[in-house]
Amino acid sequence: MSRKIGIVGSGLIGRSWAMLFAGVGYQVVIYDIEAKQIESALVDIEQQLKSLEKNGLLRGKLNSSQQFACIKGTNKLEEAVRDAVLVQECVPENLELKRKVWKGVDDIAEPSTIFSSSTSTFLPSLFSDHLKNKKNIVVSHPVNPPYYVPLVEIIPAPWTDPAVAKKTRAIMEEIGQTPVSLSKEVPGFVVNRLQYALLNETWNLVADGVLDVKDIDKVMSDGLGMRYAFLGPLETTHLNAEGFVDYCDKYANTIYSVSKDFKPLQKWEGPQVGEIAKQLENMVPKDKLQERRNWRDLALTKLSQLKKSLQ
Ligand SMILES: NC(=O)c1ccc[n+]([C@@H]2O[C@H](COP(=O)([O-])OP(=O)(O)OC[C@H]3O[C@@H](n4cnc5c(N)ncnc54)[C@H](O)[C@@H]3O)[C@@H](O)[C@H]2O)c1
Ligand SMILES: *[C@@H]1O[C@H](CO)[C@@H](O)[C@H](O)[C@H]1NC(C)=O
Ligand SMILES: *[C@@H]1O[C@H](CO)[C@@H](O)[C@H](O)[C@H]1NC(C)=O
Repeated sequence: MSRKIGIVGSGLIGRSWAMLFAGVGYQVVIYDIEAKQIESALVDIEQQLKSLEKNGLLRGKLNSSQQFACIKGTNKLEEAVRDAVLVQECVPENLELKRKVWKGVDDIAEPSTIFSSSTSTFLPSLFSDHLKNKKNIVVSHPVNPPYYVPLVEIIPAPWTDPAVAKKTRAIMEEIGQTPVSLSKEVPGFVVNRLQYALLNETWNLVADGVLDVKDIDKVMSDGLGMRYAFLGPLETTHLNAEGFVDYCDKYANTIYSVSKDFKPLQKWEGPQVGEIAKQLENMVPKDKLQERRNWRDLALTKLSQLKKSLQ
């Protein structure tokens, strides 16, 4: 059986996927429309792999040179797509572009190749209805940075062959990610639905002057987030009473009445945008964003090591 993966688009996310697939020995072929991008992707990936190895953070079963040897660049789409088990599309978030890129892949792909998109926002039905192999489409939505945050949401279109979604899930498990399989496409998938529910209430609490930006973020980073890194919201409830049924007996009324107090949904516009931005820029000035991202990635690395050691 072929052990080849095609990556289409060699930016931030394409590079992460390439490293994850190469980690378990897939032959990875990266295509990009910009020749310069492919070159810089290969240089960047080699550096990243070496530095991960040096710091004891390399994932996968092979050493960094072996992993890097699994990754090739090409400026011909066909070389990335031909005989691939799976094509992971990582082009910019633009619907017309995704439709065009998938049509190009569809024209040359084998009928058995899985079509996997990294899109964070578009339902798979929106960019696959015109494909002859549309039964092969799935979204595999990673969370940034995918090398340290293993979750992948797998989302089928209404016409996706269930075997394709299942095989995608198995591949994600094989490369050490944590897949969850949605039964159908829903706007925002699940990660962003949960995230937006939280952002919704955050906006309203700031508008109401209950907490400022710094303190509301602390509620997550030094409060709820501490346990959410290990237990989801439902298991949390199960442990916070004598099981879930007891939790509902005790707290259902409270949850209902507090939730009824939520303010209506607001659109993120108007003076509060500037107000929140000002407070955030006091915490992290805009010329320090990259430094802070690096710190975040380091923190996530350490957290993922801790999680591994607890398993
Ligand atoms: N960055 C994130 O945090 C994140 C998280 C999850 C999912 N995603 C999704 O991943 C996808 C890629 O995002 P990114 O951040 O890596 O973008 P990026 O801008 O870093 O990279 C996109 C790459 O695609 C290339 N490209 C453009 N047109 C192309 C074409 N026709 N054929 C081949 N390559 C082409 C560009 O040259 C560039 O190298 C998007 O759909 C995005 O929504 C991003
Ligand atoms: C990686 O592993 C290969 C095969 O075992 C070996 O030949 C090579 O020297 C190793 N490279 C490094 C940098 O450890
Ligand atoms: C935001 O809160 C309001 C009020 O509860 C609710 O109607 C809306 O659906 C919420 N939106 C999200 C995205 O959770």
